[in-house]
Amino acid sequence: MSILDIIQKRYSCRSYQEKEIEQDKLDRIFEAARLAPSAKNFQDWRFVVVTDKDVKNKIASVTNRPPLFEKAGAIIVACSNKEYIMQCGQAVGPIDVSIALEHISLQAAELGLATCWIGSFDAQKAKQLLNIPEDVTVIELMSLGYPAEKGRQNTRLAIEEILCYNKWNF
Ligand SMILES: Cc1cc2nc3c(=O)[nH]c(=O)nc-3n(C[C@H](O)[C@H](O)[C@H](O)COP(=O)(O)O)c2cc1C
Repeated sequence: MSILDIIQKRYSCRSYQEKEIEQDKLDRIFEAARLAPSAKNFQDWRFVVVTDKDVKNKIASVTNRPPLFEKAGAIIVACSNKEYIMQCGQAVGPIDVSIALEHISLQAAELGLATCWIGSFDAQKAKQLLNIPEDVTVIELMSLGYPAEKGRQNTRLAIEEILCYNKWNF
């Protein structure tokens, strides 16, 4: 599979089989995260991988779709603890964590697993549930597991709506 094949295969999965994810697959997925680029090579990402059923149910309960996400083999809680702002004015934490999460998502897709980014969740409650220190920010959650549905193609803007060359021309 080419990288574009994997990108086309990935979709936001909201229906999972209640099936454990093999450790070798988790290892490969988090190796993909570990190799992600980051600002100043800070590697300011920390992942709490929730696989324990009771804890997973509790984490799912602070998202917008508890019954769907609790079935996933894992919920990844992706954190950052640097407040570093780049010269361009953007915070590195959410950007770096997001790149690593997309590595996770694509590596998972290659292995026949599926993911869903989860931004609709109560970060404070997630922190309390996992004893995450106050100075650490929970950036995003991601469900990860064996899909119980077929993949789906989503609609996207046409290339000319998102791309121009040499000057702003939208
Ligand atoms: C930063 C981010 C946050 C998202 N948050 C949620 C969410 O809270 N719940 C959800 O069901 N999907 C969430 N999604 C999934 C998007 O709805 C989905 O990526 C988009 O509709 C495109 O569909 P696709 O991923 O299947 O291609 C999120 C995606 C991103 C990138």
